[in-house]
Amino acid sequence: MSKYVTVINNLNFLKLTKIAEYLPGYMEAQKQNNLSLIDILLELTNKELEFRNERAFKVNQTVAALNGEKTIESFDFEFQPSINKFEIMDFSTLRFVENKENIIFVGSSGVGKTHLANAIGIEAIKQRISTYSTPFAKLIDNLLLAQKENRLEKALKNYCKYKILIVDEIGYLPIDAQGANVFFQLVNRKYENSSMILTTNQPFSKWGEIFSNNTIANAILDRLLHHSHVINITGPSYRMKKIINLEGKEEKTSQ
Ligand SMILES: Nc1ncnc2c1ncn2[C@@H]1O[C@H](COP(=O)(O)OP(=O)(O)O)[C@@H](O)[C@H]1O
Ligand SMILES: [Mg+2]
Repeated sequence: MSKYVTVINNLNFLKLTKIAEYLPGYMEAQKQNNLSLIDILLELTNKELEFRNERAFKVNQTVAALNGEKTIESFDFEFQPSINKFEIMDFSTLRFVENKENIIFVGSSGVGKTHLANAIGIEAIKQRISTYSTPFAKLIDNLLLAQKENRLEKALKNYCKYKILIVDEIGYLPIDAQGANVFFQLVNRKYENSSMILTTNQPFSKWGEIFSNNTIANAILDRLLHHSHVINITGPSYRMKKIINLEGKEEKTSQ
């Protein structure tokens, strides 16, 4: 076996597959451009790292249950002027995670709450910050099941291990006192320990109705809001954009 084949085999055995893939090309480039060994090693190791980062990002994105298409880049800030773009860009630096702050998006259906929560989650994954996203109803179901099976403690710990927990769609369906209680336990544990991003279609004044109890709703809000950024989105539903555009066109043609 030639030394060259042995090197390729060794690289593959060591799982440095991108280096093995790019090595032949760089050997050609070396001949033509007189590259130094260090130049080549730098390029090859960068290729391997790039590949590994991309792969880790994809795995983390799947684990976190985030949608790769709902990003900051794909969000049309002009459509929703009630949102301060600079504030969202600041969130995407993940400074709020360092400060263990929460972000709460409040607004009616279709204004972009889930999109923005997801987009910040994507930025976190890029920076390898552990993130998990769940719909509120599913979270409560899981916690109640865990309680029934005497493993609530373990389930709470599991949700708390993420630096960002995204809880989407609080308030679409009311929950009973038991559900409210397990959510309170989760919020209480995360309080001042790690961040949450929440979305809700209900103003805080209605949270007593969501949690079927004013006292527990107040206790939850008290902790959530203590270190938090509340983003009120007041604008049209993006789902109506096409209709609005069509109406705009019709108006113009009728003038
Ligand atoms: N400003 C926006 N720019 C681009 N897409 C948007 C915008 N606002 C909402 N969308 C899209 O419209 C749909 C509804 O938005 P979503 O975030 O689910 O709304 P909400 O969670 O507030 O009900 C999604 O497909 C989302 O990607
Ligand atoms: Mg939503």
